Amino acid sequence: MGEPSIFENSSCREEEDHLLKSSPRILVVDDSSTVRVALRIELERMGAAVSEAVDGIYGFESAIREDFDLIITDIEMPRMDGFTLCRKIKSHNAKKSIPIIILSSNYTEESIERGFKLGVAAYISKSNAKTELRECVRELLGRNVLLRRRTILVVDDSVTTRHLVQKSLLAAGFYVLTAENGAKALKILHNQSVDLILSDLNMPELDGIGLCRQVHASPELGRIPFIIMSSNGDRATMRKLLQFGATSYLVKPFNIDQLVVMAEQFLSDHFQRLSEEKKRLEAEREIIIGSITSLILALEARDKYTRGHSESVATTLVHMAQHMGFNAEAVEKAKIAGKLHDLGKIGIRDDILLKPSDLTKEEWEILKTHPSIGAAILSPIPSLADIIPAIAGHHERFDGKGYPEGLKGDRIHLVARMIAVADTYDALTSDRPYRKGFPHDKALTIIEEAKGTQLCPDCVQSFIDLLGK
Ligand SMILES: [Fe+2]
Repeated sequence: MGEPSIFENSSCREEEDHLLKSSPRILVVDDSSTVRVALRIELERMGAAVSEAVDGIYGFESAIREDFDLIITDIEMPRMDGFTLCRKIKSHNAKKSIPIIILSSNYTEESIERGFKLGVAAYISKSNAKTELRECVRELLGRNVLLRRRTILVVDDSVTTRHLVQKSLLAAGFYVLTAENGAKALKILHNQSVDLILSDLNMPELDGIGLCRQVHASPELGRIPFIIMSSNGDRATMRKLLQFGATSYLVKPFNIDQLVVMAEQFLSDHFQRLSEEKKRLEAEREIIIGSITSLILALEARDKYTRGHSESVATTLVHMAQHMGFNAEAVEKAKIAGKLHDLGKIGIRDDILLKPSDLTKEEWEILKTHPSIGAAILSPIPSLADIIPAIAGHHERFDGKGYPEGLKGDRIHLVARMIAVADTYDALTSDRPYRKGFPHDKALTIIEEAKGTQLCPDCVQSFIDLLGK
């Protein structure tokens, strides 16, 4: 039973452990109101939110109903004692990871051993509480408070894998939900709050790729870290999945400790901040691209001969990039470069840009500055830095006779060489004031003839393979 002044000599420290400031929830189970009050005062000083129960039965009900980071219990209590309470909690799947401290006057070797056999984290005598309890609480919460109340959804069609992963994560202190395929996982995700998803790749109904894409596309779910688990042969697919929004991947068979460390890492506040920053930059990049694209559309809309040109080049570039084996991120960059390649025309005078007749030599020299102007416009935007060489080089020729630098062969950025092909095709097939657009076959013949002189042979080949003759 209770000792009324278990904390009478303990000092109130102003600064407490950082982890305790995140308000861990502690359940105190003791039939002595004096002990409960003393513990409440002390634990609240440490920053915890405290609930009380007067015996094991109330304690167990409270532990099931609510979510606690730590339970401190007496042993001798009416109706249900502390040992029975420990046994019931440690055999409850969702609750067994809550650390339990026994705080009792019964400090015999026999009862201490019994407590540890039941899985309690610490056994403290009430007479030592003032020197030992605070440190013990801090240590246990430091280990558990970051993990507790974090829910991991394990998605795998293999019962064995599901159970193995679930068991390890529960033992590490996480709350775990499981689903046997992507479709069932989505149902859970729409009904419950999940902090991390661990998903297999190959599953019936909805596989890991489908699940990852749907989660990433959803404004509510897109922030949840998504870890793919699959076998060695799927490495390339898993790397590709990173482009679809997956956070990381684990190759089976993996060390279960490695999984736990990874989960802790991705659930840390630091990671969440990095992830939010990355998403913010991506959103900013989207806005910038959207604004520039609108400018280009407005520029092209003034001239019926160039209307839709950039969109058309971008579409061709996407097909070429996919055909040439670019990964999803590189395809996206090629698409943006295609859209923005003539951005620099914003800086060219209208009397040159919209001139219906042939340009003079001087006017032509001015028009030739548009790749450099486009590159200069993009240069202050760090998130678009990697497409600048493609914009700057889209009028270079494979034989070195292009502009503005006269670069030759593969010294010209690959995407710039691809734009040159798509740009030429679009120009050939579009109507001009002085001629009708060429038919598809004729345009392809002209492009093939420019192989190795004006245009890159590999890019031309890819284009011809793609469109067929
Ligand atoms: Fe151009």
